[in-house]
Amino acid sequence: MKLMFLGPPGAGKGTQARIIAEKLGIAHISTGDMLREQVKNGTALGLKAKEYMDAGQYVPDGVIIDMVKERVNKPDAREGFILDGFPRTAAQAETLDGFASLDAVINIGVPDEMLIDRICGRRVCTDCGATYHESMLHDKEKCPVCSGSMYVRDDDKEETVRTRINVYKEKTQPLIDYYAKKGILHEIDGTGTIDEIADKVMAAIEALK
Ligand code: AP5
Repeated sequence: MKLMFLGPPGAGKGTQARIIAEKLGIAHISTGDMLREQVKNGTALGLKAKEYMDAGQYVPDGVIIDMVKERVNKPDAREGFILDGFPRTAAQAETLDGFASLDAVINIGVPDEMLIDRICGRRVCTDCGATYHESMLHDKEKCPVCSGSMYVRDDDKEETVRTRINVYKEKTQPLIDYYAKKGILHEIDGTGTIDEIADKVMAAIEALK
């Protein structure tokens, strides 16, 4: 099964993609995670991408498209995948049509103020990459899964988050119509608990079978 999770920053795309990919036994392909890995490793691509990411802007299409094309051809994606955060522009969506055919696009909707609260409270584990909201943690410095230290993403400052939401509205929101016209769009209300939303996403996917 080939799925794409769409939604504004903080909608819960990454949280849901991790849960659903594990349930379905398919690959979770997050362009944000791939870029952060490049930044962490200090590659030329990572250094270039960081400037855009820290400013809340999109990384140029060419860089992203090459990265995803290579990733979807890896063995773990043969049985299917969830694209999390790709495509985000019309050019990315049109190019994707040329190398993969999506079964469904899950659009997770959440109001702006809730997005800001979710992102500004996000904590990520340096070691295992687990993501939490600070309200879920007894100790905000320590990962409850692996005891690794927690960090705040460089692009999770409120001002940058507002820029990211605006960039999403301008460049990515039009993709909702693009996929609605193809008849593969499924709208999910992303305001409940993580488990409630995962159940709704799974129900939408089960209905495809
Ligand atoms: P990326 O990492 O993809 O960031 P994003 O799209 O802005 O999305 P987020 O990761 O912030 O949010 P999410 O929806 O995954 O939410 P999450 O599950 O983490 O991309 C970062 C940057 O890379 C971009 O800005 C851009 O520069 C670049 N980039 C990436 N892809 C690109 C592309 N295709 N083209 C160009 N540039 C690209 O949840 C957020 C928080 O909410 C967490 O704290 C979580 O614990 C909490 N939470 C989740 N669900 C719930 C819930 N139901 N209730 C309460 N809290 C919840």
